[in-house]
Amino acid sequence: MEIIRTISWMKETVRQARAENHFVGLVPTMGALHEGHLSLIRRARGDCSRVYASIFLNPTQFGPNEDLSKYPRTFERDVEQLTDAGVDILFAPDTKEIYPAGFRSYVNVEGLSERLEGKSRPGHFRGVATVVLKLFEIMQPQFAYFGRKDAQQVRILQQMATDLNLNVEIVVCPVVREPDGLALSSRNTYLNAEERRAATALRRALDEARRELDAGTRDALQLQTTIRRVLSNQPLARIDYVEIVDSETFEPVASIGPRPVYALLAVFIGKTRLIDNMLIEPAADGNAPTCSL
Ligand code: PAJ
Repeated sequence: MEIIRTISWMKETVRQARAENHFVGLVPTMGALHEGHLSLIRRARGDCSRVYASIFLNPTQFGPNEDLSKYPRTFERDVEQLTDAGVDILFAPDTKEIYPAGFRSYVNVEGLSERLEGKSRPGHFRGVATVVLKLFEIMQPQFAYFGRKDAQQVRILQQMATDLNLNVEIVVCPVVREPDGLALSSRNTYLNAEERRAATALRRALDEARRELDAGTRDALQLQTTIRRVLSNQPLARIDYVEIVDSETFEPVASIGPRPVYALLAVFIGKTRLIDNMLIEPAADGNAPTCSL
């Protein structure tokens, strides 16, 4: 695997790949890689003739009181994992390469960016959209792979790709979980042993909502109440938000109807903020909806 640090060399490499008619798939990351990231790489490996990854701990998507300075940095191990997974090129620029002095252009996907994660983390999605657009421009992938773990992020990036006529197809990949159901996240390393056990409450809450759906509940408020009840029973958990939203608009819904919806949750376990979600897709024949965790 070649590691590229500069935009100029990355663009030159992209020109060569284009001349050779390669299909390029990109997996953008912030490093501290785990099986969730690697699942995206494997999917890209299956689809594309060249797989590019990026590691860039993007400062513009972190708020002033967020965890940028203590975000886990495991570059050497990341490089080993990406090499083993068959990545062709790793783009790992430093902050000044992406945001040189005088930088002043940002992408804002209006409406979708202000609620939920965007409300709890003002400016977060502006930072995400800006850096991802830059990565697309620099690396010119035909396909880009993102996890459904960050459901609002990928919805916003799809909207950006549509609105700005980007020549890239956004591919959404399933959530990879620990055997006990906790969604993999670089932030899980912040949890101590007791918090790690408590963190299973997120998945248990979604499981309980799924059981209610199977039993016939379609009322969103009732599902929300169930999720809140399971989380409230865990003393180390503090709810940031629990919402049932339309999967396109991310606006709250009153009931599970004909359109796919997400059950979304953000929960503090101690000082660590974790998110999770379940995709609820109605069955055509009136059967219980399909839930993807
Ligand atoms: P990061 O948190 O490193 O995640 C990189 C990609 O891995 C994202 O698409 C994320 O959804 C996916 N991912 C994380 N955990 C996952 C899991 N358990 N299962 C499946 N996929 C998972 O998301 C970002 O970085 C940044 O915002 C980025 C898009 C790179 C822009 O800076």
